[in-house]
Amino acid sequence: MIIIGATSGIGASLARQAAEKGYLVGGTGRREERLISLKEALGDAFFYRVMDVTQRESASNTLQQLIDEMGGMDIIVLNSGISNYPSSSVTAMEQEIIDVNVSGFVNLFGRAFSYFREQGTGHIVGISSIASLFGTSRAAPYCGSKAFISTYMQGYRQRCNASDQFNITITDVKPGFVKSEMTDGKRGMFWVGETDVAVRQMLKDIENKKSYSYVTRRWRLVAWLIKLTPNLLLDRLKIGA
Ligand SMILES: NC(=O)c1ccc[n+]([C@@H]2O[C@H](COP(=O)([O-])OP(=O)(O)OC[C@H]3O[C@@H](n4cnc5c(N)ncnc54)[C@H](OP(=O)(O)O)[C@@H]3O)[C@@H](O)[C@H]2O)c1
Repeated sequence: MIIIGATSGIGASLARQAAEKGYLVGGTGRREERLISLKEALGDAFFYRVMDVTQRESASNTLQQLIDEMGGMDIIVLNSGISNYPSSSVTAMEQEIIDVNVSGFVNLFGRAFSYFREQGTGHIVGISSIASLFGTSRAAPYCGSKAFISTYMQGYRQRCNASDQFNITITDVKPGFVKSEMTDGKRGMFWVGETDVAVRQMLKDIENKKSYSYVTRRWRLVAWLIKLTPNLLLDRLKIGA
């Protein structure tokens, strides 16, 4: 299993839990010291490469190096993501979210899809969000980026379902609020799940090759409610400024 964005939060917990279950795990991220710590903790079960997903050509080459070193890839988890952060320029902040969450995602998704198609089989897991289901004034670019990847994955899933040439599973993980550096100190959250609990549930869904995974489980209810809520009401939500 290769995890793109394994240096903190959900990705780091997944690396640990997968290694404990006997998976050979590859991890990436920009913070090399975090990858070294994981290597020290997980030993021979863990391989790593420093990677910035916004450097698309280099990220693709780095992924291939990791695959070669590990002797192959059967599952890739595209987890790298950023949310809104305080910035002097809203435009720059919004562009960075798109660079990481959309362009970085699509680049590696495409590489992984080609690899698995050639191999005939594989599993792509994309970490989207409950935020993919509706826009919020507080995090418009983040919600938009997650809506993009969920819709994008659905299109690819249709392609996989229609093909008898290859057997590729695509899992769209939609976490609600989960404890991590991303949510640290953010206001207005509720039902904030423990990282290890959310990841344990997610790993179970990955192993069961689910198309959709809601973690923690109660967020499935929120997703269901959002889908039933008319846009007339969603357009008048007051979440942040
Ligand atoms: N926590 C939540 O409540 C929540 C809810 C819904 C969805 N999610 C999604 O879950 C995923 C993981 O988030 P998290 O909550 O675990 O947050 P986190 O602790 O901040 O982890 C983010 C991960 O993304 C990586 N990353 C960020 N920018 C990158 C870049 N340019 N190149 C490569 N890697 C990059 C980080 O690695 P480096 O900084 O080392 O590069 C880190 O490993 C994200 O896609 C997030 O949108 C989280």
